[in-house]
Amino acid sequence: MAKVRVRNTGELIEGEENVRSFLEKQEVLYEHWEPSKLPERLQENFDLTAEDKEEILNTFDTEIRDLAGRRGYKTWDIVVLSESTPNIEELLKKFEQIHTHTEDEVRAITAGEGIFIIRGDESVGYFDVILSAGDVISVPEGSVHFFTLTEAKKVVAVRLFIETEGWIAHPYEDPTFVK
Ligand SMILES: [Fe+2]
Repeated sequence: MAKVRVRNTGELIEGEENVRSFLEKQEVLYEHWEPSKLPERLQENFDLTAEDKEEILNTFDTEIRDLAGRRGYKTWDIVVLSESTPNIEELLKKFEQIHTHTEDEVRAITAGEGIFIIRGDESVGYFDVILSAGDVISVPEGSVHFFTLTEAKKVVAVRLFIETEGWIAHPYEDPTFVK
């Protein structure tokens, strides 16, 4: 279940309703899918064939189409990142640059963990959303943010797009941000 850590205060927000209500105020969509719907061999598996990825998409077809229907996503795929991903260190360096997109960034974590670091409103500042299997998030269009992995360095996620080009990252310089 997702947790939020507010960087300026160190406050940790836990519990589905608390997390959802905090994220709602920051206009970040947060939902939950049931990761145990996946066959056991696809839970916490980071070495996926094309058929496995198809099976994950099929398992969550109802959830994907429901979310897509509500929010206008037209295409989706699966992304897998782990220490066996070629150039993982380089990829992470790229992901960890602060940026914005012209459409929202939607990720449904089906295995492993990931962290979105998002700039909230002025009173909140940057906060980390720590996600695990079953967590679904949408970082709003234009939001200043970046993504990284946890120490486990493993994630499988469904990505949904309105237009795949909408996801191109636009770098954002923020001298006030301290990692
Ligand atoms: Fe992004």
